[in-house]
Amino acid sequence: MLVTGKEILAKAHQEGYAVGAFNISNMEILQAIIAAAEEERSPVIIQTSEGAIQYAGIDYLKTMVHLAASKASVPVALHLDHGTTYETIISCIRNGYTSVMIDGSHHPLDENIAATNEIIKIAHAVGVSVEAELGRLGGIEDNISVDEKDARLTHPDEAVEFVKATGVDYLAIAIGTAHGKYKGKPELDFERLETIKRLLNMPIVLHGASGVGEEDIKKAVSLGINKINIDTDIRVAFTEGVKAVFKNKPEEYDPRKICGPAREDMKEVIKGKMRLFGCSGKA
Ligand code: G3H
Ligand code: 13P
Ligand code: ZN
Repeated sequence: MLVTGKEILAKAHQEGYAVGAFNISNMEILQAIIAAAEEERSPVIIQTSEGAIQYAGIDYLKTMVHLAASKASVPVALHLDHGTTYETIISCIRNGYTSVMIDGSHHPLDENIAATNEIIKIAHAVGVSVEAELGRLGGIEDNISVDEKDARLTHPDEAVEFVKATGVDYLAIAIGTAHGKYKGKPELDFERLETIKRLLNMPIVLHGASGVGEEDIKKAVSLGINKINIDTDIRVAFTEGVKAVFKNKPEEYDPRKICGPAREDMKEVIKGKMRLFGCSGKA
């Protein structure tokens, strides 16, 4: 069943676990996520980036996800990941997304608040949930000083000001993770997370969670992360799965035999994430 992001994450916040938010750009990835959620009896958030919408078309993506959600026996939310333009966000709302992210994290605080409020007014009027972001995630190749790193991470007092000024449903914070493949080991600022969660007492989102160690993920969940974004680990599972097919059978030319095994591999990776995040059995 299709539900809002707020409904899924309010329960996760109350009961102290995190729900996986997985990026899709094609049918196989979506099917892998839905099958994993069914097998784990887990709620799930399916998200599309602006790049995925450009690649596949919003009509294809929303129709596939609405179909999958209507057949699913677990709660499914359809979310826009890193919305940066008014046009894309409004288009997602019109196309039946149940949650949207307005990413104003690159703007100064007051502009981020203004951009977020503009979206919240419209989204909330039609029952769509809203995620915003405060602080900046690291670039994986960044070689920056401790002071610079500190300046990028979410400031707890700013987070309080931001939430008071917007009434956003869930907030993505920067605590040391980065998008894409990590070169070194990510260092998460757990103290910062603990402080922000205590002050806000609302659902908190972690981006850039692919490649973060299992113990760190568990700790982040125990300290109040409720939505965990995963894209890269699924891309890697897909690519490795396809490579394995060609290694064993270089002459293969049937897309079903190329993508089918990769779909199974992605499903296993996603099931592992659901168990780690604590959302298995929560549907
Ligand atoms: O946060 C970034 C996601 O992994 C989406 O990436 O813009 O390449 O689709 P993308
Ligand atoms: P990863 O690149 O670590 O999978 O992060 C995905 C993400 O944060 C999408 O918003
Ligand atoms: Zn992200």
